[in-house]
Amino acid sequence: MAVQINPSILSADFARLAEEAKAVQGADWLHVDVMDNHFVPNLTLGVPVVESLARATDTPLDCHLMIEDPDRWAPQYVEAGASSVTFHVEAAAAPVRLAREIRAKGARASMALKPATPIEPFEDLLPELDMLLIMTVEPGFGGQAFLDIMLPKIRRTRELINKHGLQLWLQVDGGVSASTIERCADAGADVFVAGSAVYGAKDPADAVHALRAQAAA
Ligand code: DX5
Ligand code: ZN
Repeated sequence: MAVQINPSILSADFARLAEEAKAVQGADWLHVDVMDNHFVPNLTLGVPVVESLARATDTPLDCHLMIEDPDRWAPQYVEAGASSVTFHVEAAAAPVRLAREIRAKGARASMALKPATPIEPFEDLLPELDMLLIMTVEPGFGGQAFLDIMLPKIRRTRELINKHGLQLWLQVDGGVSASTIERCADAGADVFVAGSAVYGAKDPADAVHALRAQAAA
C-alpha cells in the first residue's frame, strides 16, 4: 500500500495559487476543494479556477466536489483538467452512472462519505470506484479537529476493500496532521489530505515529507 500525500489548497493563499502549488514539490496530488454554499456552508472555487490551476502545475489535481448535483458538474471538472474527481454520495442522484462517466472521460472516479454516512450500503459499488474518501471532519472548512470516531469506519472499509481484492485507494480528509496521521494509516488509509498541517507549516514541502514518513512508518 503506497502512501500518498495530497495537500489541500483550501489552506493556501488563493491569490497565489500557482506559487502555492509549487511550494509543495513532492506531493502526489493537489487536493482542490470545490464548495457551492449549498451542499456545505462555504464557497470556494469552480471550473475556471481548476482549468487555470491545471495549466499552472504538473502535480495532478484531486478535485473534491462538495456540491449539489455532482451528476451535472463532475464531468466538467474532468474536462477542466482534474485527474481524479470525488463526488459525495449524499448528493449524487446516480452514483454508479456518474462514476462510469468520470472514468469514461479519462479521470479516476472517487466517492466521498460524510461522517454520518455508513460504508456498508455501498459495498457493491466499490468496484466502480478508483478511490473512496472517508471524511474525518464535517465537510466545509479547513482547520477542524480530527474525528476519532471515524477510525472504525476506516478500518471496516479497508476490510471490505481487501475482502473483494480491490485496488481501490482509501483517502482520509479533515484534521490529518502529525498527531493523527499514524492512527489513520494504522486503520488502513493510504491517501492523506492535509490542508492546515501543510500550508500552515513554515516549509510546506518539508511538512509533506514528514507526513509521508510518519504514515509509512
Ligand atoms: C474540508 C475539506 C478539506 C480541508 C482539510 O471540508 O474537504 O480538504 O481542506 O483541511 P485540514 O487538513 O486543515 O483539516
Ligand atoms: Zn477536501
